[in-house]
Amino acid sequence: MRFSSQVNFPSPLDVIDNNFRGSGIALYMKRDDLIHPWVNGNKYRKLSCNIQHFYDKGFAGICSFGGAFSNHLIALAYITHVECIPFVAFVRAYEYDHNNPILKKISSWGTKIIIVPPDQYHLKEQGEIPQSFLKEHNNYYLIPEGGTNDLALKGAAQIIKEIYSQTDTDKYSKVVCTVGTGGTSAGIYANMNSTENLMLACPFKSNLSYLRGFELIKRDIPIDTINVSNHKKFGAYDPDIVSFINRFYNDYQVLLDPIYTAKTMYWLANNLDHVHLNDIQKIIFIHTGGLPGIIGYNYLYRNKETIRIPLKYDHLQSPDMTFG
Ligand SMILES: Cc1ncc(COP(=O)(O)O)c(C=O)c1O
Repeated sequence: MRFSSQVNFPSPLDVIDNNFRGSGIALYMKRDDLIHPWVNGNKYRKLSCNIQHFYDKGFAGICSFGGAFSNHLIALAYITHVECIPFVAFVRAYEYDHNNPILKKISSWGTKIIIVPPDQYHLKEQGEIPQSFLKEHNNYYLIPEGGTNDLALKGAAQIIKEIYSQTDTDKYSKVVCTVGTGGTSAGIYANMNSTENLMLACPFKSNLSYLRGFELIKRDIPIDTINVSNHKKFGAYDPDIVSFINRFYNDYQVLLDPIYTAKTMYWLANNLDHVHLNDIQKIIFIHTGGLPGIIGYNYLYRNKETIRIPLKYDHLQSPDMTFG
């Protein structure tokens, strides 16, 4: 696989702050954000085994689902571009926004974009539009939205295996992972020596009774699972989060994404004395990436305070990303 030669792997485990916010707790970070500029964090973990599966089974192409600013689609678009694999993205949108910098980028990489209106999108591959495509292309490999399937969990398991080889974990350590579908965290959970060490952070308001990843491993959702945001709308603008990302980068030179990692880190920074963290001496925060999503966030909320993109993330502000 040509793409494998581009990744920074295994990702480092860095000590970010020995005394986070004066709490006495050390903040460590698993730097999956550094794996690749476009295929950050859990996207790399979830997709690597899926791409191998594509080759093993001799499929003709790949198709998948995602929103108009989806990190999952960006990552898949990049990998398929490098690997010269035909890729079709079913994008949830009312219409094709030709100014959307993410859609511009992925189509420049050769992705075929098919717009699926929101009222049909939830039907996924059963919907009329994907169905008619799949009927003609039954040799395409369908990767679910967000990439969460058994192979993704296998990739995510590597995260905790690497952490165990990089630092000691004991009952005073807490591994913190942010969740969407729960695929990343379920892969981690299933491979932990002690699952009490895992804390899951959900960045959108939800009753947390169902996570697809935990259904795949047939386990209950861990007790230590919390909501870290009051926003019901996924991806809603949050000025506190934008300022927090800008400050956090100033303090630690680590860029967080606005949808998942920043919300989790913001919650931690403000709740270090929270009951869940009692007696904890070391937090191991998994940076699940998502940085390309900043482009979409800054585009959507371009009339508000935006996330500052540091110079070393040049690709996130390249000329073809100019808005309008
Ligand atoms: C940056 C980031 N972190 C965490 C998650 C949540 O991962 P999962 O869906 O595996 O729970 C996502 C979504 O895939 C993401 O983009």
